[in-house]
Amino acid sequence: MAQSNKKCLIAYFSRKGYNYAGNNIVNLPIGNTEVIAKKIQGFIGGDLFEIKTIKQYPLDYTETTEVAKVELRNNARPELTDKVKNMDNYDVIYLGYPNWWGTFPMAVCTFLESYDFTGKTIFPFCTHEGSGLGRSERDIKKLCPDANLLPGLDILGRSVANADNVLQSWLKKHI
Ligand SMILES: Cc1cc2nc3c(=O)[nH]c(=O)nc-3n(C[C@H](O)[C@H](O)[C@H](O)COP(=O)(O)O)c2cc1C
Repeated sequence: MAQSNKKCLIAYFSRKGYNYAGNNIVNLPIGNTEVIAKKIQGFIGGDLFEIKTIKQYPLDYTETTEVAKVELRNNARPELTDKVKNMDNYDVIYLGYPNWWGTFPMAVCTFLESYDFTGKTIFPFCTHEGSGLGRSERDIKKLCPDANLLPGLDILGRSVANADNVLQSWLKKHI
């Protein structure tokens, strides 16, 4: 569908386990952002890459918010388990993450600082529980000033199962 003559990478961070969803805490077997990342791959193809930290986050929601708060305050760069094999192969990157404290998890900083995104196109997509993309697009711009950053899509975490239409119209906008 989108960017048909270019190879796409769909890189995402997502956390399974207990998470806030409206008035409830729910146990997610697959993280919300991962659901969207896989839908994007289903619609447009491309390669999936999970941005995964060596140190796992707690299953508990509140504990994770505390860990994440400290990482944000310390401007941490959590170590990742893997690197993209050949980033040069990709012109277009769909970058997915949950909104954590108003921006992306610090692991996404580690990811963005690991490659040269000069001339590459980045489409951010973010799942959240009310804050939308927050400061994340500005933060991508700061870390990758020479990338072509296009307007992102935000999706309410508890609505990911019903996001196909909004997702497809966002993807179609940039064919
Ligand atoms: C550590 C942490 C911080 C969060 N901070 C916010 C926030 O500031 N604003 C918001 O709308 N949602 C926040 N959320 C909710 C997540 O953005 C939302 O549940 C998201 O869909 C989770 O995606 P995932 O399952 O792919 O990890 C937070 C969740 C966690 C675990």
